[in-house]
Amino acid sequence: LSGQSTNITYQEHTISREERAAAVGKHEGFRGCTIWFTGLSGAGKTTISFALERTLNKVTDRIFTEFNSCDNFQLGIPCYGLDGDNIRHGLCKNLGFSKEDRQENIRRVAEVAKLFADSGMICLAAFISPFQEDRLDARKIHESENVKYIEVHVNTSLEVCEQRDPKQLYKKARAGQIRGFTGIDSAYEPPENAEIVLDAGKDGVQECVQKVLDYLESVGLLP
Ligand code: PPS
Ligand code: MG
Repeated sequence: LSGQSTNITYQEHTISREERAAAVGKHEGFRGCTIWFTGLSGAGKTTISFALERTLNKVTDRIFTEFNSCDNFQLGIPCYGLDGDNIRHGLCKNLGFSKEDRQENIRRVAEVAKLFADSGMICLAAFISPFQEDRLDARKIHESENVKYIEVHVNTSLEVCEQRDPKQLYKKARAGQIRGFTGIDSAYEPPENAEIVLDAGKDGVQECVQKVLDYLESVGLLP
């Protein structure tokens, strides 16, 4: 990757986060944030984050009925899941799995997640993001602009992940057909400061989703 942008001036928007919140639906004000799932391949990041995405939509369905609101914007909590396998088909299709490429992957995704969150949505990001330094960078990208960032460690053991091996990638990595596979011949540095730790080797998907929902409620993000 070459070059740096030059001669650029940041352009302020003319609407505030509060005003965005009024359009996308709010609870105790603006609730745009990023929930960042990190963990080994096969840990359950995609499954849990996509199940959460569904549940967040349903939660407000219930509230919609309870309060019989007629405001269409209140139908669901706007959220969107960004997932490693998917983003690597588009935005990050030119990146591989070297340390440098993973760093650039996480940087790009963190910038995109921040934009989703700034728009008032709950952004769910599911990436192995194996390096502490890159995750701290992702956090900084958010927090330096006062965007809430919640790290979820999907803490499933390598043994369990390898046993599940849903995409048969561990098998290929063990056979030497994939080089630099996380947990096999590329490091995974467990987070030291995750807001939430999920034992997804033991707990089921719904239990994990519920733990995240409980946390969101405890910090005032859910009705
Ligand atoms: S990273 O480390 O955060 O940049 O990776 P991410 O963007 O989340 O992409 C992980 C998915 O890519 C597939 N895959 C690999 N994972 C780890 N190491 C290597 N070498 C690799 N090669 C391909 C794999 O499907 C990962 O998805 P998950 O859902 O984590 O299994
Ligand atoms: Mg996945």
